[in-house]
Amino acid sequence: MPKIDFRSLKNRSEKEIKEAKDLRELNEVFRKYLGKKGEITQILGSLKELPKSKKAQVGKKANLIKKELKTKIEEKNKELKEKARREMEKRELIDVTVPAEKIELGHLHPLTSVRRKVEEIFESMGFSVIEGPEIESEWYNFDALNIPKDHPARDAWDTFWLKDELNAKKLLLRTHTSPVQIRYMEENNPPLRIIVPGRVFRHEASDASHDVQFYQIEGLMIDRDITLANLKGILKTFVKLFFGEDIEFRWRPGYFPFVEPGLEVDIKCLICGGKGCPACKRSGWVETVGAGMVHPNVLKAVGLNPKNWQGFAFGMGFDRLVMTKYKINDIRLFYSGDLRFLKQF
Ligand code: DAH
Repeated sequence: MPKIDFRSLKNRSEKEIKEAKDLRELNEVFRKYLGKKGEITQILGSLKELPKSKKAQVGKKANLIKKELKTKIEEKNKELKEKARREMEKRELIDVTVPAEKIELGHLHPLTSVRRKVEEIFESMGFSVIEGPEIESEWYNFDALNIPKDHPARDAWDTFWLKDELNAKKLLLRTHTSPVQIRYMEENNPPLRIIVPGRVFRHEASDASHDVQFYQIEGLMIDRDITLANLKGILKTFVKLFFGEDIEFRWRPGYFPFVEPGLEVDIKCLICGGKGCPACKRSGWVETVGAGMVHPNVLKAVGLNPKNWQGFAFGMGFDRLVMTKYKINDIRLFYSGDLRFLKQF
């Protein structure tokens, strides 16, 4: 048996005990020296191979170190257990002054919150808010609005036709909110004032300013002597209340089969202030409203005599209105469900 360096053994083992960071590490140290195959256990086990003269001396030293190590390990064991207990306590301690974890609340989609605001403004001017079906019949979407079959104007409203029919009538996803004019006038006598917010569909390629679905707000006011001056006054008031400032309008003649005369109303581009930018196709103006005096054929289609009743109608591109208000440059963001976009409102 080679000579045993007890001093080094003692130093080494004591150092390792001191440095043990947790009970697992301490247990390792125990096994290394005092376990079944531990260094000291082996020394004691091989005493019988030593000559008698050495046996007592080596055995004494080894036993002494064994005793010392055991005591040291026990002390360290107590210390580590105490440390673990304190840490556990610290973790369990409830500090009532710590701010609570924030509960994330959802909020309304910008199209919904702005729609509510628009409804409020029109309600303050005596309009009722009416809704209509998104699946519409060919009659309401086209014929009753003075757009007969094979009329070229139908091309402007390419849509999605349904395979199913209802009472032998062809069905489609409505291309505009105008059919609700007909539905409402069938059921209600003038004088009347309504707005119709709702989703509409177009079978067309999508880009930054077009999508296959979008929102419109239809307006209709029928009485004995309504003129375009009334429309102008109402839209002016609306824009002032909606944007909080007077914004310049531009009125252009426009063709829509269900009005005569028909016009298009543009509002000055708020993004560039009218100088021209990509959002307004460099024209300085944003086409926002189609409007006009309700066509006599439309009044006749609902059984009203155009000699007694007249009025205006308008259809507002709602998404464009919201885009102008918040300076949003792509209509598809509304329907993408992208939280980075939605969280800004
Ligand atoms: N329905 C038309 C469209 O979708 C918009 C429109 C134009 C509505 C003129 C009207 C109107 O009520 O008078 O393009």
